[in-house]
Amino acid sequence: MTGVSLMPDAAHPLGSLSAVESQGLPIEGMHKFLPLNTMPSPTLRTESKPAALTPAAVVSMMNQTVPKTAKLTIGDLQIDLPMLIGTENEIAIDIRQLRAKTGAITYDPGLGNTGACSSKITFLDGEQGTLRYAGYSIEEIAQKSNFVEVMWLLLHQRLPLAAELAQFSHDITYHTMLHENLKQLFSSLPKSGHPMAVCAASVGALSTFYQDSSSGSDEHNWISAIRLLAKMPTIAAYSYKHSIGQPFMYPRNDLSYAANILYMLFGTPCEKYEPNPVMVRALDLLLILHADHEQNCSTSTVRTVGSSGANLFASVSAGISALWGPLHGGANQDVIEMLLSIREGKRTAKEFMELAKKKDSGMRLVGFGHRVYKNYDPRAQILKKACYEVLDQLGRKDSLLDIAIELEQIALNDSYFVERKLYPNVDFYSGIIYKALGIPVEMFTVFFAIGRMPGWVSQWLECRKDPETRITRPRQMYTGATVRSYTSVEKR
Ligand code: CMC
Repeated sequence: MTGVSLMPDAAHPLGSLSAVESQGLPIEGMHKFLPLNTMPSPTLRTESKPAALTPAAVVSMMNQTVPKTAKLTIGDLQIDLPMLIGTENEIAIDIRQLRAKTGAITYDPGLGNTGACSSKITFLDGEQGTLRYAGYSIEEIAQKSNFVEVMWLLLHQRLPLAAELAQFSHDITYHTMLHENLKQLFSSLPKSGHPMAVCAASVGALSTFYQDSSSGSDEHNWISAIRLLAKMPTIAAYSYKHSIGQPFMYPRNDLSYAANILYMLFGTPCEKYEPNPVMVRALDLLLILHADHEQNCSTSTVRTVGSSGANLFASVSAGISALWGPLHGGANQDVIEMLLSIREGKRTAKEFMELAKKKDSGMRLVGFGHRVYKNYDPRAQILKKACYEVLDQLGRKDSLLDIAIELEQIALNDSYFVERKLYPNVDFYSGIIYKALGIPVEMFTVFFAIGRMPGWVSQWLECRKDPETRITRPRQMYTGATVRSYTSVEKR
C-alpha cells in the first residue's frame, strides 16, 4: 500500500481536551523508520486547494462524536494518533509522537494547520466571524467593559471582583513612570526613526533596569507584567514626543489609562490639557478591540521567545518587532496611506483594486483578508460603526471614510475577493478613528501595540506556567545540496 491517509478511528462522545486520553501506543513502534523504497516521493508538491471544512462541520459529519484516534497510513505502516478536542469543539490530531514512530514530520509553512499550544485566553472562529475573550463576546465586551478590566480578564480568564479591579487599576497607575536614565535612550535615537523601533528598543531595555525580570519566579514575572502594562503608554508617548522634539510629559495618576495616554501624547508643560471624554472612550474601545487575538504572528513570537526562558521584556520586544510588519499591525498605517493617495488623486479606488488583484503588482488591498477570518472580522464591524459615531460626536467629517466604504463595496462585489473570502480586517477602519483623535499616522501601529500588550503578557504568562511548554524549535524540509567536498578558493 502506498500514499498517506489519515482516517478517524472508533468514535467516542465529545469530551474536553483533558478528558480525551491518549491511546498509550506501544513504545516498540517508536524509532521504526520507514524503509526508503516505501517512502512517498520527497518532491514538495502542493495539491489543489480543498474546500474549507469548519471544525463544527467536521464534528457534525462525524455524527456529533469525535474519534479517539486518527489512523495514519504511510505505505505499509499504519499508526494511531490521539485526537484532542477543545472546549469549543475544535479538533486536533496530536502528532507529538509522529516523527518518533514514522520518521516523518508535518510540513506546514506559516503554521496555518498547526496548533502550537493550548490556551484558555481567546477563542476565535474565523468561519463564523466570532471572537471571545475568555468566553465573553467581543461585541458585549466592547459595549460594556473598559480596557483596564479587559487586561485583568485576559490575565486571569475571569471578570474581576470590584476589589481586585481596584487593586489592579492602582498597580498599573502607580508604575507608569520610566526610570530617568531610560529617557536618554530615546534621546540617543534619530528623531526620524520609526516609533515602533523606538518602542521595541525601550521595552527590551526595561530588562536592564529591572533585572529581577530574569529570575523566572512567578512573583517576578507578575511584577514584570504590571510594570510593562503600566509603562507601555509612557514609552509610546515618549517615542512620539522625541520624534517632534517636545518635552516628555510625566504620567498623571489622576487620569484613566486611556486619558493618560492622550495627555502624555498631546499635553505640553506650557498649558493645561484635559483629554476630551469622547476621545478617551474611542481610544479605550480601540484598545479593547486589539487586546488579544490568540496565536497571531506577534503573539506566537512572544511565546516563542518566552519558550527559551527569556524574560518578559525581551519576549515582548520581539513581539513589537513582529507586529510592525505590513502584513500584521503595520497594515493600519498602510491603509490610511492608501486612502490618502486615493483622495489626493494618485490612483482611483478601482485602480487600487485592479492592482491588488494582480499578483505581479506586488500590491494588496491593505486592511483586507486574514489568515483566520473567512468572514467579516467582528472587530472591523464594530470599528466601522464607531467611525460614524466618533466623527459625529467630535463634529467632524472625513472623506477617507467615504473612500473606505467605496473600496469595501467594490471588494465585496468582486469575484476575486468573494471567492477568496477576503473581508475588511481590524486595520481597515481603525486608522480613520486614530486620525479623528489626532494621532499621527506613524503612531498607529504603536497604538496597536499598546492594545495588544495585555494579550502578549497573558499569553507569555500562560506559556510559562503550562507544563506542556517546550522550547519552540520547528523542523524543516531540507532542499539544499547534498554532501560535497570543499574546493579551495583558487580552484573554484
Ligand atoms: N489583497 C489582494 N489579495 C489578497 C489579499 C489582499 N489584501 N489578501 C489575500 N489575498 C489573496 C492572495 O493573493 C491569495 O490569492 P491566491 O489564492 O490566488 O494565491 C489568497 O488571497 C490567500 O492569501 P494568502 O496570502 O495565502 O493568505 P494568508 O492567510 O497567508 O495572509 C494576510 C493573510 C492578512 C497576510 C493577507 O490577507 C494580507 O496580506 N492582507 C493585507 C495586509 C493586512 O491587511 N494585514 C492585516 C491583517 S489583520 C490585523 C493583524 O492581525 O495584524
